[in-house]
Amino acid sequence: MRAEYRRLLTEAYDLDKPHAPEAELASLRARVQAHGTPALELMSGSARFLAPLLAAGLDVDGVDASPDMLAAARRRCAGLPLRQYEQALHELDLPRRYAFAFCVAGSFGLVVDDGEVAGSLARIRDHLLPGGRVLLEVEPPPEHTRRRPWSGTFWRRPDGATITLRGTGHYDAATQVEEAVGIYELFVDGALVATELNEWVRRFWTAGQITSALAGAGFDDVAVSERDGLLTATARRPDAVPPH
Ligand SMILES: C[S@@+](CC[C@H](N)C(=O)[O-])C[C@H]1O[C@@H](n2cnc3c(N)ncnc32)[C@H](O)[C@@H]1O
Repeated sequence: MRAEYRRLLTEAYDLDKPHAPEAELASLRARVQAHGTPALELMSGSARFLAPLLAAGLDVDGVDASPDMLAAARRRCAGLPLRQYEQALHELDLPRRYAFAFCVAGSFGLVVDDGEVAGSLARIRDHLLPGGRVLLEVEPPPEHTRRRPWSGTFWRRPDGATITLRGTGHYDAATQVEEAVGIYELFVDGALVATELNEWVRRFWTAGQITSALAGAGFDDVAVSERDGLLTATARRPDAVPPH
């Protein structure tokens, strides 16, 4: 099973998180400037980070597996030099090579399967220039297995329509994977007009595990730091890895 980001989820995501948090954006902008361009945002979604980076004149591409998120990104980036691709990370095959590739907001946890993790890291490595840098944010694992009780929320669209969400999930401490379902419903003038089931899986990582995964994929200079409940792993593509 793979996380899906379909139409109602995408709308709800953008109502819930309309803009990138300023501090995170500033830190990312500084990293792009330090590591150089072109840069690549992995799992760029609806471009809440990508759009302001492009607006700042930085040469950053985006890649994401969801056509709905990419369509939302196109709307957000109207008038900006957006270059984005619809691909899954483990199948990454882009025309350019990058000085810096980054995946923020814990999104790399959406790659769950061991084979897809290894494939994704290898494809990312092969899309970096020699000496290029990668940054991946992941979430550290909760200690215990737990069931997330049913909960819900709602958003009002600017046109007055309402999107509701109810969901539940289960985290297994043995596998460090959470499986969850979210039922999104769209009500217009009080009538239910669309409903959508989004299933997703999320993998949690210890600092040691993400370090080993990056080293195993041929990266060097691996470092992991923790901030605001997220682990930020950074690494470098050695000069000797032959380009893809
Ligand atoms: C939580 S959203 C975050 C988007 C963006 N990073 C942000 O912070 O707004 C996660 C994104 O990852 C994408 N995604 C999930 N699995 C993926 C994969 N294996 N390859 C590429 N994109 C993927 C989804 O389509 C979704 O747009």
